[in-house]
Amino acid sequence: MVARTVSEVLPTEQKLEGGGFPVRRPFPIAGMSHIDPFLLLDEMGPVDWAPGAAIGAPEHPHRGFETVTYVLQGEMEHADSAGNSGKLSAGDVQWMTAGRGIIHSELPSEEFLRTGGVMHGFQIWVNLPAKDKMMAPRYQDIQSSEIPEVVSDDGLVKARVIAGECMGVSAVIDTMIPISYIHFSLQPRGEICQEIPSGQNCLLYCFAGAISVGSGGSGSGGAAEQVEVGDGQLAVMGDGDSVEISHFDGDVAEVLLLAGEPTGEPVARYGPFVMNTQREIMQAINDFQNGTLVA
Ligand code: CO
Repeated sequence: MVARTVSEVLPTEQKLEGGGFPVRRPFPIAGMSHIDPFLLLDEMGPVDWAPGAAIGAPEHPHRGFETVTYVLQGEMEHADSAGNSGKLSAGDVQWMTAGRGIIHSELPSEEFLRTGGVMHGFQIWVNLPAKDKMMAPRYQDIQSSEIPEVVSDDGLVKARVIAGECMGVSAVIDTMIPISYIHFSLQPRGEICQEIPSGQNCLLYCFAGAISVGSGGSGSGGAAEQVEVGDGQLAVMGDGDSVEISHFDGDVAEVLLLAGEPTGEPVARYGPFVMNTQREIMQAINDFQNGTLVA
């Protein structure tokens, strides 16, 4: 197996999103619009809201891609134009395929708003290939208890398998193109080698502690091509067929692994619409204004 090496480490920018909640965003930023097939990566919070202060993203449209929400702490409520609604609590995942169009809101739950507390989670945007951009919207709401978890034999690495496969365990979420979305928690001296097929793009986002990424795992004595990736940094991996992650000391390191098959298609994006051409973007804006975005 050829271990991938780090080709670039991106910092995060602090932004306010939706109604004004803070996010750490490695992309899209100036100079890095997307990393095919991923269009956006936002770490929401962690933010400690006072009672009555929590905010989210009120009604907004989407077309042409998927939004994936993963809540780590706090509680969100969602509702949309297709009549779906529900709550997302700690550990839950919502994989929403907007397809031809959806209008939805993502807000703190009433109870969370009243009591306040820590909100922390992720939203990523996954592109759809041209042939699926106008598909009927689809929801996969997966409770924390249904997200497969697997622990390494030495007990030092835990993986929550949101999409794809890890240590022989497969995700329950179905994706339109091959995607891996894995949340690793590494204890000191923990290491993991994850297979990622050559040709897929692969990203590692560290959000607690620090990890070493690249070939020549601890004790191997091989060529030192390891790069340290710290809290709030995104490692963009070069090609290969595996990724090696290790964590040496300190507290638990938390990392999201994202990998996917690139669509290889042109990206035209305007806010919440992501299509292939400017003409399709104009169509989406017209459809939204005419009230025909949603079937
Ligand atoms: Co949204």
